[in-house]
Amino acid sequence: MDIGDWSATDGLNDVMRTARELGIERNLLELEAFGFTVVEPFKAAPQAFFERMRDAVYSLIETEDPAAVRINRLGKDTGPAGGRQLFHLLQKDDIFAEALLNPFTLTFGRYLMGCSLRLYSSVAFYKSDQVGTTLLHNDSTGMPGPLPHYGNVCNVSWVLTDYTRENGTFYMVPGSHRQCRHPTDVEQPQMMGGSAPDERGVAVDAPAGSLIVFHGNTWHGTFPKTSSGRRAHVALAVSRNYVNPAENYDDLPASMLTQFGPELARLIGRDNWQGYRSEGPELARMGAVRAAQWNQYS
Ligand SMILES: [Fe+2]
Repeated sequence: MDIGDWSATDGLNDVMRTARELGIERNLLELEAFGFTVVEPFKAAPQAFFERMRDAVYSLIETEDPAAVRINRLGKDTGPAGGRQLFHLLQKDDIFAEALLNPFTLTFGRYLMGCSLRLYSSVAFYKSDQVGTTLLHNDSTGMPGPLPHYGNVCNVSWVLTDYTRENGTFYMVPGSHRQCRHPTDVEQPQMMGGSAPDERGVAVDAPAGSLIVFHGNTWHGTFPKTSSGRRAHVALAVSRNYVNPAENYDDLPASMLTQFGPELARLIGRDNWQGYRSEGPELARMGAVRAAQWNQYS
């Protein structure tokens, strides 16, 4: 059917029209049904774009001090990713803001989080040689259960190398987003050291150039990386407007906001209505958020 300018779904109409133009309506259905989906290689951006992002991550790996990142000090066997994580990426290379503002990232984010979505975090995950697993978890980090069925976070991961089981790809439990809770310790798969195996998980096969997109409730981990060579992806996580983002971008240079425009400023909270003092809320900002919350009905 044609999607009209229906007042009852104001905001959603444009999101769904864009999804149709981008050819990702099937992906949205997979997200609804299974809690995750894969966009085929080089559909979201050309190969050269993914190679630029990969090279930017590799350059940061060479230049940044791993000991300056608290989580990287945990060591190979105890660190949550068994590799290195690079946080707070936006001002480190333009490619990360470009990926955030890419229509695929924004359309998945707007569909699941509403048009008032915020940037939650931008993190590169890097592994080389053979490393262990990431335990089963979901990305509603620190949010107390029960979790809402509609989710508070959406992860759009830009895959920079081939993700296969041997390369330590994601272990994903289809449909787990509907359980609306965090996995418990006894639900850790045996391969990840748990006491009771969860054989429902599947390996996400995603060649370089793919996007892996998943709902913030979806249970996932990673397989052990048994291959040699590098493995990297960049996770751009977006959240609902009321969620306190993991990363603070108050120090993002004004030149970047000039370069990338008002949607980037909004995504990093520059137009927030929250945080007022005696002067009270700025009603125009409150109204803008309210107007964007089409999926309050979902
Ligand atoms: Fe995760």
